[in-house]
Amino acid sequence: TVGDNDYRPDFHFTPQKNWMNDPNGMVYYAGEYHLFYQYNPNESVWGPMHWGHAISKDLVNWEELPIALYPDNLGNIFSGSIVVDTNNTSGFKTGSESPLVAVFTHQNPANNKQTQSLAYSNDKGRTWTKYANNPVLVNNNKADFRDPKVSWHKGTQKWVMTLAAGDEIMFYTSTNLKNWEYKNSFGKNVGAHGGVWECPDLFKIKDINGQETWALLVSINPGGPNGGSGTQYFLGDFDGETFTSSQVETLWLDYGTDNYAGVTWSNEPNGRNLFIGWMSNWSYAQNVPTYSYRSAMTFPRTLHWQKSNGKSIIVSKLATELIYATGATVIEKTDVPSDLELLDDATLGGGKFYLETTLDFSTINKANIKWGNKSSSVLIEYDKANGELTLNRAESGFKFNNLNGNIIKCPYVLPASNQLKISMLVDKSSMEIFLNDGERVLTALVFPLAPFNNLEITANQKTKFIKKIKLSKLSK
Ligand code: FRU
Repeated sequence: TVGDNDYRPDFHFTPQKNWMNDPNGMVYYAGEYHLFYQYNPNESVWGPMHWGHAISKDLVNWEELPIALYPDNLGNIFSGSIVVDTNNTSGFKTGSESPLVAVFTHQNPANNKQTQSLAYSNDKGRTWTKYANNPVLVNNNKADFRDPKVSWHKGTQKWVMTLAAGDEIMFYTSTNLKNWEYKNSFGKNVGAHGGVWECPDLFKIKDINGQETWALLVSINPGGPNGGSGTQYFLGDFDGETFTSSQVETLWLDYGTDNYAGVTWSNEPNGRNLFIGWMSNWSYAQNVPTYSYRSAMTFPRTLHWQKSNGKSIIVSKLATELIYATGATVIEKTDVPSDLELLDDATLGGGKFYLETTLDFSTINKANIKWGNKSSSVLIEYDKANGELTLNRAESGFKFNNLNGNIIKCPYVLPASNQLKISMLVDKSSMEIFLNDGERVLTALVFPLAPFNNLEITANQKTKFIKKIKLSKLSK
């Protein structure tokens, strides 16, 4: 039988022990990518929240550090963000390093009251001091008032806080991170409202030519595109106080069930919008069949915007650091004569792969990619007539309760070329699928009864349809 070690991914961050949810306070500083996260050090289910801490130099290998923030007399430490206060606007600087300032939600467990607070580090994030005058932002009218994401707005020379409040986003500004002034709200009559809005992120985003617009990410639970948790986004304008968008449709960052509460890194050295999400769903996160630890993060991704079928969308790609995880090539072919079947293939052992394949739908209507073994399988199907990709995990080993009968759907109409490029990262218990270089993304957990050692790519017609395939193992 399979256990935690068979499911624990090798190329995604997991805590050594116990419970993790949202990524928090991601910041790059002095050669290190910091990842903090909602953490319960006592059990592998949600509980009194701390900020766990890990660092990486290459986004593939992570080192877990001691817990950064513990609950205190103001409550538990909910989600939030970190900025590098280069100009010492906060006055927290004591030594030669720039202060890292964490802005997070304090949640009072007695009455669930939520306020925003600060903590700072003058030693590259190794030790943290809570600000003596916490909280810095209180709102007596709102029950849900949390997950501050702070960034520096050049135009107004102010800090901007993007905050989730019920099913709206509130914007505050500050010159010193301590005093916050309410400016505006966003979200009435736009986007999905089937649940509570959480973990927003606001940032400038570039297209491939460097042209900028603004993006607002908003996680929502429940009410995601395939049930439970999901992350929607808005493209528009931000003038330092007000976010405006002419968008009418609800857009989802990821159609899979397992990418939630994701936000981007602050101070990213290459100017990338570098994103990471919690790879689970509140509908079942606390029941998945790992016991000593629970939850992994997605692989880091970079976000751009582009026009696709006349509409502006965000495209996501795996961070190029994936090369540090890419190992031996299992198969590399072009113009495969017909179906491709690798069955009980010894070279496929281990359940960790990166697959890139381009399928030509000029003469076929449906194609399937099936990962499996003797006892369980995951079926991914693209149906051209329906304009939809589905991932079926009914036979994948673990029954994911109450979500769409285990079928995850992702609408996608092929471009005029009739080509579908599928890039897919499989790391034991997760699948991250990117269509045509990130125009659609589907992230899904799977808990197979044994590691995958079969891969089949088939179509509904016997014909040449696999233009290209490259399958690599993952190794580091
Ligand atoms: C999102 C969330 C946040 C909150 C945190 C608590 O998953 O509910 O809104 O800050 O988790 O752990």
